[in-house]
Amino acid sequence: MSAETPRLDIRHITKRFEGKTVVDDVSLSILPGYVTCLLGPSGCGKSTTLRMIAGVEVQDSGTIHVDGNLVCDTVFRVPPERRSIGLMFQDFALFPHLSVAANVAFGLTGSKAEQEARVRQLLSRVGLESYMNAWPHELSGGEQQRVALARALAPKPRIMLMDEPFSGLDNRLRDGIRDETLALLKEEGTSVLLVTHEPEEAMRMADEIALMRDGRIVQLGAPYNVYNAPVDKAAVAFFSDINILSGVVQGALVDTPFGQFLAPGHADGTRVEIVFRPQHVSIDFDRNGRGPNPTPMAGTPARGVVERARFMGSESLVEFRMDHDREVLRATVPNVFLPKVGTPMWLTVRRDRCFVYPSEG
Ligand SMILES: Nc1ncnc2c1ncn2[C@@H]1O[C@H](COP(=O)(O)OP(=O)(O)OP(=O)(O)O)[C@@H](O)[C@H]1O
Ligand SMILES: [Mg+2]
Repeated sequence: MSAETPRLDIRHITKRFEGKTVVDDVSLSILPGYVTCLLGPSGCGKSTTLRMIAGVEVQDSGTIHVDGNLVCDTVFRVPPERRSIGLMFQDFALFPHLSVAANVAFGLTGSKAEQEARVRQLLSRVGLESYMNAWPHELSGGEQQRVALARALAPKPRIMLMDEPFSGLDNRLRDGIRDETLALLKEEGTSVLLVTHEPEEAMRMADEIALMRDGRIVQLGAPYNVYNAPVDKAAVAFFSDINILSGVVQGALVDTPFGQFLAPGHADGTRVEIVFRPQHVSIDFDRNGRGPNPTPMAGTPARGVVERARFMGSESLVEFRMDHDREVLRATVPNVFLPKVGTPMWLTVRRDRCFVYPSEG
């Protein structure tokens, strides 16, 4: 078997419920030891995809292979317990009547001594060796989560399927447990498909993000690429607030109140939207009705008045009502600066951080 054989390979998976297509021709492969995040809004088909891979739901068409071996098509089907797949869901419920050690040992085979060694290894790895004989209800939420992770990893699954496993934890706990979990999964060499609807979680965890919408994967790539080269406006908007300027292409350029923008690849007369994030708007003070001088990089500044300014910790989000069209534009600024409502200011847009898409509809 070549080194490039994916650990998990799903091809053209489709699932319908009552005539409605919920997962629509999804293909995805994960190499050994890699983490892919299935990221998308509620109801887009993430859990259904996971359930088909786990084998608790059967696809209407398409195939699933693990390490090059067919696990499931429309006629042949390896039962869930023989797929070497570990599961971790939001309601990861430990068995309440079993000790922590017995919970972790639950799926293990082999001699008593081997089982004990594996349980001890994993519990010490997650820092809970001294809780071996405790009951689940004696543990905090974060500790229970770590036991659940140890339990899922104990039989050395080839693949871990995780469905919003951290959403039950409070924010402060979550970051630590996420990083710990990731480190342990990498050590074990397990391939992971993790479902989340939080972009920050996906970017923190994933080697690859599969952005899903209406049952389809609309973009697949490293977090850096998905964030910096989004396929469409909705993909930009999934990761952050957005601003939009509209215009018509003429000679691969679009004229706007912020000067000209490049629109390569769009034909003359095409109506386009220039989309950019609030982080890529710079602001400057008004000097007797004048702003900074235009430059080729920053373009032309346009004036707006602060309508709302929200302090958000590491940065502030400021909404401007623009003079030229009375529309709102958003800018984020470092938290040391929080302008007063009613302050006139000049905005410029970073040319190299704009995305140009044909207008929809
Ligand atoms: N057993 C079922 N019978 C009928 N419809 C179903 C069934 N399971 C899921 N659906 C529908 O399929 C769609 C996708 O559901 P799914 O649970 O996969 O979404 P999701 O992306 O996991 O959403 P969330 O982020 O809210 O968990 C939803 O519209 C849901 O109502
Ligand atoms: Mg779900």
